[in-house]
Amino acid sequence: MCGIVGYVGKKTAQDILINGLKRLEYRGYDSAGIATLDEDANPHCARSVGKIAELEKVLAAKPHEGKIGIGHTRWATHGGVTVNNAHPHRAGDVFLVHNGIIENYKELKAKLSDHEFKSDTDTEVLAALIDSYYKGKATLADAVAKALSEVRGTYGIIAFSPREPEQLVVARFGSPLIVGLGKDETIIASDASALLGYTRNAIYLNDGELAICTRDDIDLRNLKLESIKAKPEEIQGDAEQIQKGGYDHFLLKEIMEQPTTLHNTLSGRINVKQGTMRLGGFNLTPKELREIEHVVIVGCGTAYYAGLLASYYIEQIVPDVTTEVVIASEYRYRSFHLPKHSVALIVSQSGETADTLACLREIKQRGAKVFGIVNVVGSTIAREVDGGSYVYAGPEISVASTKAFTSQVATMLIFAGMLSEAHGGNRETIAKLATELDALPDEIAKTLETCAPIMKELAGKYCKYDDALYLGRDTAFPIALEGALKLKEISYIHAEGYATGELKHGPIALVDSTYFEVFNILKGRLFEKSIGGLQEVRARGGKAIVLTDAPESLDIEADDIVRIDTKFELLTPILLNTLQQLFAYYVAVARGNDVDQPRNLAKSVTVE
Ligand code: M6R
Repeated sequence: MCGIVGYVGKKTAQDILINGLKRLEYRGYDSAGIATLDEDANPHCARSVGKIAELEKVLAAKPHEGKIGIGHTRWATHGGVTVNNAHPHRAGDVFLVHNGIIENYKELKAKLSDHEFKSDTDTEVLAALIDSYYKGKATLADAVAKALSEVRGTYGIIAFSPREPEQLVVARFGSPLIVGLGKDETIIASDASALLGYTRNAIYLNDGELAICTRDDIDLRNLKLESIKAKPEEIQGDAEQIQKGGYDHFLLKEIMEQPTTLHNTLSGRINVKQGTMRLGGFNLTPKELREIEHVVIVGCGTAYYAGLLASYYIEQIVPDVTTEVVIASEYRYRSFHLPKHSVALIVSQSGETADTLACLREIKQRGAKVFGIVNVVGSTIAREVDGGSYVYAGPEISVASTKAFTSQVATMLIFAGMLSEAHGGNRETIAKLATELDALPDEIAKTLETCAPIMKELAGKYCKYDDALYLGRDTAFPIALEGALKLKEISYIHAEGYATGELKHGPIALVDSTYFEVFNILKGRLFEKSIGGLQEVRARGGKAIVLTDAPESLDIEADDIVRIDTKFELLTPILLNTLQQLFAYYVAVARGNDVDQPRNLAKSVTVE
């Protein structure tokens, strides 16, 4: 979603702003802009539609020299993708960039008849509101605080004015902002990746906080402008992690690095010899773990599917615990009831997803403990949960989530193992889970290596289709859903995931020679039933790709079969998913799509 960068220091602001915005490109955007103040405090603003390269062309014709400025990448919400709707917005002496949504902007706009609006955005309304209070002796910070007290909605903002040319005023409610403290410079960004390489020392703004930032000082306040003590923290990660590392796309890099990132997820958490598992951050005593009767898992998109897959395993290995997996955007508005002894797992790669965060708060308010399964260190969800674990997948830049999914599932499986132990679950099963988790990075490496060329070839064969169904039973069902999501996001092929047993209840009506079907088939107790679904599709002219761990001795008739060789009994679905990730990637490349930044999508969905 939208990205924000601000700079005040001794260097040319334009360079830092553009570099920062490029680091935030992965979040998804459709226009970009910067505003700066030159040495004589004259404002300059440049905006353009499309990629940052377009903005750079504008700036090449007329570079900005100033040492203070703000920049923004916009993902359209209010008003179309036009230069006028791009940020920064100006009202009088106020220049503003904004992430989030001002819900009561129409109401506020109606009161601002003095301002001639040039855009359709809620942000320009906020700029005009700030300007309306920026009169007489009022400082910019006074005006910002006053305006924000009238606003309903979410925001992360940076404002500046030629009247106070040495400061940026920053404020946050519901949309992240991080203030990086450098030597003789302050850099602000909506995402820590824009700060990497400049400073590791930063203040993560909390909701309701405002900061007046100069080159060498941060004055942190609440919205009543009372002083607050700032607690600087260390930014994790390094600039190398956000490079492509020789791959053509971040997505391929992130698929291929799963053995390493998963190793980081598991490190220190599994004891194969003892057959035990621990997640330190859960801070629950064995008694508290024993008392858990109900686990609700909350997420959106891929995080939801990771939760769904984990729930199958929790049910399998933990006696007497009920698991419920919910889509955050629905759950937050449902009249849900949490039985006594419930805990919630809040699953989010970014740790900023608005709907997931809203659920966290609702659940907490109802008295249940909430635990985060989060990738981005220091993110809002990670800061608001009662405990939980980072998944340590490292920065995930490509919009389509791959390595985070695998690490989320693995982290929740460790939780399942802990829970099972506390509830007197079968020791052998827990030990088997520990052994397979420990071996998973190597099994994924083997699968990726042997199957990447096969999936590439299949992608070439199926890339011209317009429709696909993904199917699976049991633990392969959430994998089918995830496979369909991955394909549709980056290839734009219409793809739907279904439980194989649901075919006859509707989707089989779609099957003809224009569709292809991806069957995830596990050997084991439901093998025959899965083959039944496959035969039904083939009898109706559907083209079928089968992804399976079944050996050659188990006869399968399909258009294409990819067999993986593994001794796993529990975790094969995760291996099948890596095949789907490769397939989606190669199809998207074959169709000439923007793989890392697919149209209309954003990496971090910070608005409802
Ligand atoms: O950051 P989160 O894990 O909370 O994001 C949730 C979804 O927006 C995300 O998984 C989305 O579905 C991805 N584009 C999937 O690839």
